[in-house]
Amino acid sequence: MSGKPLRIGMIGLGRAARAHLAACDRFPESLCLTAVCDINEALARSTAQRRRVQAVYSDAFRLIDEGPIDAVDICTPQCVHAAIAVAAARAGKHVLVEKPMACSLDDCLAMVRAAEEAGVVLMVAQNQRYRPQWRAVRDACAAGVIGTVRGIDVCATLNIFQGAAPGHWVYDARSAGGGVMMSFAAGVLDLVRYLVGDIVRVSAVVRTADLRFVGAEDWAAVNLEIAGGAVGQLLVAFSAAPSPWRDNVVIFGDAGTICAAAPPSGRLEPLIALAQEGGEFRPLRAACPDLPGEDMFANQILHFAQCCREGRQPLSSGRDNLLTMQAIFAAYKSAATGSAVEVNSPL
Ligand SMILES: NC(=O)c1ccc[n+]([C@@H]2O[C@H](COP(=O)([O-])OP(=O)(O)OC[C@H]3O[C@@H](n4cnc5c(N)ncnc54)[C@H](O)[C@@H]3O)[C@@H](O)[C@H]2O)c1
Repeated sequence: MSGKPLRIGMIGLGRAARAHLAACDRFPESLCLTAVCDINEALARSTAQRRRVQAVYSDAFRLIDEGPIDAVDICTPQCVHAAIAVAAARAGKHVLVEKPMACSLDDCLAMVRAAEEAGVVLMVAQNQRYRPQWRAVRDACAAGVIGTVRGIDVCATLNIFQGAAPGHWVYDARSAGGGVMMSFAAGVLDLVRYLVGDIVRVSAVVRTADLRFVGAEDWAAVNLEIAGGAVGQLLVAFSAAPSPWRDNVVIFGDAGTICAAAPPSGRLEPLIALAQEGGEFRPLRAACPDLPGEDMFANQILHFAQCCREGRQPLSSGRDNLLTMQAIFAAYKSAATGSAVEVNSPL
């Protein structure tokens, strides 16, 4: 496939897929949508028609067996990520899978093993890692611009009712593998790891405040111990009203502070400011020459295509993501037992 666009089979054609497809469309020289699949046949057919895709499926395993593809992009609910990803890897297809990676550690491990045995790329769509602003924050922390990082405070809230009506699978732990911690914090904790380092111990509290969630928490608070000695705290919510989307991060070093705030207006770009000791807050410029553009979804899918072409590990590889998922599973265990839980590498 070298030199030719990566042929992608998109599986699950809902909200997440729309962002992936829009990014895919922008780079026809690198990416080509050649097959689509959704268990909702009408949605699969209408998507295929709109995008002039010939290969249309309602069964992911048939797409994997028969589709004219080099890779799959899995945007289904997470309860079926592992089965599809393992089948795709065994068939020699590269795999991009939405976050959270899967609903159990065993499933996550099976995905990593299948990809490594088959020699294909397994990448988790941790899109925040491909946002230039977060790259700039990470680089500033790594370069010691705020000295030694001592603490991180993250508040990431969402009003899910605006995006998905009650009854949608994300409200139900049986299809989502949990609530806000699984479906939302899997991305936020990954961002914490990306910015300041791995999480080594957690203690957590979860609550189901809105009873339209079925066995799934809509609020969670997690205390974090981070490799290297920093401490952190995370508050996530699915039913923050009326907040549409908010992602506030403050990182405290012993020589400065970085504040990154997405204002509660629905605007997605974080406003990032840096203050060094004795100084005022000033904007932190996001100059990231290795990222192709401003759009994190475009950066993400181009990175995937490049890793497939060059046979190298992505920045958000399945193997790397095991530690993010371990932190999530540890947080659930802590919430259930009332004790702090270590986050160990499972491989
Ligand atoms: N929506 C977002 O902003 C967002 C953000 C981050 C991560 N994600 C993740 O992306 C994934 C998809 O979420 P979504 O919001 O797009 O959900 P969605 O409900 O909007 O879309 C999911 C689609 O998958 C289809 N589907 C279900 N089971 C299938 C199967 N076995 N084979 C083929 N198609 C199947 C459904 O019919 C539906 O069209 C989830 O893992 C979610 O956590 C979504």
